[in-house]
Amino acid sequence: MFEILELRGPVAAKAGSNRAASVLEAGGLVLFPDMAFALEADERPLLDPAISNGKSKNVSLDPITGRVGGADVDAEAQAALGRMLTRFADYAETLLGELTPHYAGALQRRRTSFRPGAIENRALSPRKDDRRLHTDAFPSNPVHGRRILRVFANVNPTGEDRIWEVGEEDFQTLAVRYRDRLGSPSRSAWLMERLGLTKGRRSGYDDAMLRLHDAAKLDDGFQKSAPKRRIVFPAGCMWVVYTDSVLHAALAGQHALEQTFLMPPEAMETVALSPLRVLEQVGGRTLL
Ligand SMILES: [Fe+2]
Repeated sequence: MFEILELRGPVAAKAGSNRAASVLEAGGLVLFPDMAFALEADERPLLDPAISNGKSKNVSLDPITGRVGGADVDAEAQAALGRMLTRFADYAETLLGELTPHYAGALQRRRTSFRPGAIENRALSPRKDDRRLHTDAFPSNPVHGRRILRVFANVNPTGEDRIWEVGEEDFQTLAVRYRDRLGSPSRSAWLMERLGLTKGRRSGYDDAMLRLHDAAKLDDGFQKSAPKRRIVFPAGCMWVVYTDSVLHAALAGQHALEQTFLMPPEAMETVALSPLRVLEQVGGRTLL
């Protein structure tokens, strides 16, 4: 059964700190229904799909270079975007610091992204279509077994909900379902790294996670019959979830902010629940 830990009020994150990590690690989600990320006056005009450069799905901030990509705007708006994304990254980090003190020092801040377009309007191939149930894997940024923990905020200015579906099937069941499709490590990992197609060498774990992502998304029967549950995220709410292990599909909504953190599985309360350990156990081989 998919668990949603709902936390309300100004001290919501602290109040949930005794249970949040175990709910997240078991494949649940933490929801803050009334914790809005407030936008500054000069940030409100940025809530416009026209700021996109038309090539990227998201506008994003690279925490290492400080560069904002994916937007085609003037220098002033570019600076405002950078400030908004940095503020959100700091906000998300503070939130997790209170919610999951167990992870202190282990969370690694990665991209901050803003999704200004409406989900319904995207015409994409099944593999790229995030309206289909999937677990996250990064094709060009190998994670080498680290967890993908994401903090989301619906900042829609007109009160529009963001709507997801999540799978009721846990990661272990999913891994067993597609066990035969996870294959052996790709021999071309070194070449992709050499050609700059991946940032660093793709590990056996990254290969298996990409295959799992594709297997679920491309399986029409699974998409139709998988047990799932609809979740409505109202404007002004935030949520936290391990998107590498929770089956999810983003069905509708516009204007979401998202912060990605990576975390070594050893920092989890229950390491055995990490996708790395589950895939190694299901496949009977080491992946790193
Ligand atoms: Fe996703």
